[in-house]
This record gives sequence, C-alpha cells and structure tokens, in this order.
Amino acid sequence: MRGAAVSRREAAADQARTRELVRYARQARRRAHAPFSGFAVGAALRTSRGEIVTGCNIENATFGLTLCAERVAVFKAVSEGLGPFTEIAVVAASSRPTPPCGPCRQILWEFCGDLWVHMAGPAGRALRSVRLSELFPEPFDAGHL
Ligand code: THU
Repeated sequence: MRGAAVSRREAAADQARTRELVRYARQARRRAHAPFSGFAVGAALRTSRGEIVTGCNIENATFGLTLCAERVAVFKAVSEGLGPFTEIAVVAASSRPTPPCGPCRQILWEFCGDLWVHMAGPAGRALRSVRLSELFPEPFDAGHL
C-alpha cells in the first residue's frame, strides 16, 4: 500500500515537472525568429540539478544557417557549463507532436544522452513523451571513433 502511494506521488511529481518544462518551452517559443517558415518552436532543457535552459528557433535569410530551438537550448547550456541533462520539452503549433529533427537528435545524443523528450502543442499539454533512444535507436557517437 505504502509503495503504491509513493509511486503515485512520484508520478504526480513527474507530471508536474513535465508541465513546468513545457511552460518554459511555450514562453521560449514566443521569442522564435521564424519569418521565413512561420513555424515557431520553443524548447526547454532540464539539468539533473533542476536548472532549466530554454531555446527557440532562429532562422536566417540564407535558410541553411537556421538553428532549431533544441540546439539553441543545448548550446546555451553547454556554453554555461551546465549538465548533465535529464529531459527536454519541445513546443510547436502542429496537429502532430513535433519531434527533434535528425541533426538535433545527434546533438542531443552527444550532449544529453538518453534523455526524456516531451513534445507538446501550443496549449501546453504534453502530447507525447519518449526517450531519445526511441527516436534515435542506433546512434553514431564517440564510442565508434
Ligand atoms: N524546427 C525546430 O526549431 N525544431 C524542430 O524540432 C523542428 C524544426 C524549426 C527549424 C525551422 O526554423 C522551422 O522549425 C521549420 O523547419
């Protein structure tokens, strides 16, 4: 009985943490610079110590220099000396949850390992949560060098 109550409490705490991270990603999305695609994305990354670092997509007139929200969050955090990372929330206005693109999966794997990825719509509800290894099952990493 006690065990069940503890795990219910832990599940509720997990949910609250996810909701908080999605809230940060929603706020970051408002700062997206996406005049070319019109597709604004926000991300929020959590460290194991509880710090939250956000990112938004930043587009460029040459298109190819565009940075995704996820990579902005990771590079901001790494440049501040933060880590390790436990979870990331990604928010976009899409009918389907927006997963990190291929290059972002590689970067997330290298800097964050097998973290949780929460994908949510603009209203903020977490629509889908998976481990990165589910999205990126056979990564190339430093172990191959
Ligand atoms: N984008 C992200 O920021 N994250 C994703 O997970 C998917 C795509 C951005 C890149 C570009 O600015 C716009 O969304 C359209 O691809």
